[in-house]
Amino acid sequence: MVIQWFPGHMAKAKREVTEQLKKVDVVFELVDARIPLSSRNPMIDEVIQQKPRVVIFNKKDMSHLKEMEKWYTFFKEKGAYPVAVDAKHGKGLKQVEVAAIEVTKEKFEREKAKGLKPRAIRAMIVGIPNVGKSTLINKLAKRTIAQTGNKPGVTKQQQWIKVGQSLQLLDTPGILWPKFEDQLIGKKLSLTGAIKDSIVHLDEVAIYGLEFLIEHDYEGLLAHYKIDVPRDADNIEWFDAIGRKRGLLQRGNEVDYEAVIELIIHEIRNAKIGTYCFDIYDELSAQ
Ligand code: G4P
Repeated sequence: MVIQWFPGHMAKAKREVTEQLKKVDVVFELVDARIPLSSRNPMIDEVIQQKPRVVIFNKKDMSHLKEMEKWYTFFKEKGAYPVAVDAKHGKGLKQVEVAAIEVTKEKFEREKAKGLKPRAIRAMIVGIPNVGKSTLINKLAKRTIAQTGNKPGVTKQQQWIKVGQSLQLLDTPGILWPKFEDQLIGKKLSLTGAIKDSIVHLDEVAIYGLEFLIEHDYEGLLAHYKIDVPRDADNIEWFDAIGRKRGLLQRGNEVDYEAVIELIIHEIRNAKIGTYCFDIYDELSAQ
């Protein structure tokens, strides 16, 4: 389902998530490990405020580990606890409970000191569309609970799912909008599959991806396509080389550029060429 984020929907989604947050002790803010900054909702700090927070870098299997780890510092400085998971293949999930215990420790110690009975930690997942919220809920629950498909905000009928020994998770995630106003962020969101292709120009997305790879993984790019193109060649030369190698031709033996654009986006998006973190820490962390 395509979500149209009109200002009214955004306000409603924010209100609904804010309301749900009152029920929980900790928020799991889900980000895409390939774009840990660009996949955040622009108002997330305002929405979550001082509530204990675990930032879950999902899709770690498709990101660049070293670059991703640099982002841990950024989130730690903000007082959040970062963990990285691969929800699709069920990797790193134990850390989620450990992190939840850690960030709520003080709160539960205060409750204990007041004589309150021990209880499970309550949590909810919040994130932009396609970041893997439903996949993670299903994996943590060890069964299919959350439907993949989106509705802004949160749906009404909610239940608590038991996760591990000490955690209860809301079965419906909070869905908030990404930062799609910014052109570069829009391209990163499209390249990673977070936003629908129709709202950005695919040629610009493919060129952005190609230029990123030329800069950060030139050898890997040549090896993947089995081509030999000088680093400083222009985009058309790259498209021609890739198109010819893959037989993406149309009448008159001309390269079918539309097909090349689709191919490049598909292969980067699905980590077929390599694993990358498009948010470069040294360039963005000061923002
Ligand atoms: P959402 O609820 O936040 O909207 O996201 P959802 O769980 O629907 O996941 C969006 C896509 O991301 C799905 O792929 C899902 O399989 C994939 N995904 C989620 N977590 C991970 C992960 O850790 N690693 C990888 N590689 N992929 C992940 P899809 O193409 O829509 O579906 P499918 O082809 O996997 O069935």
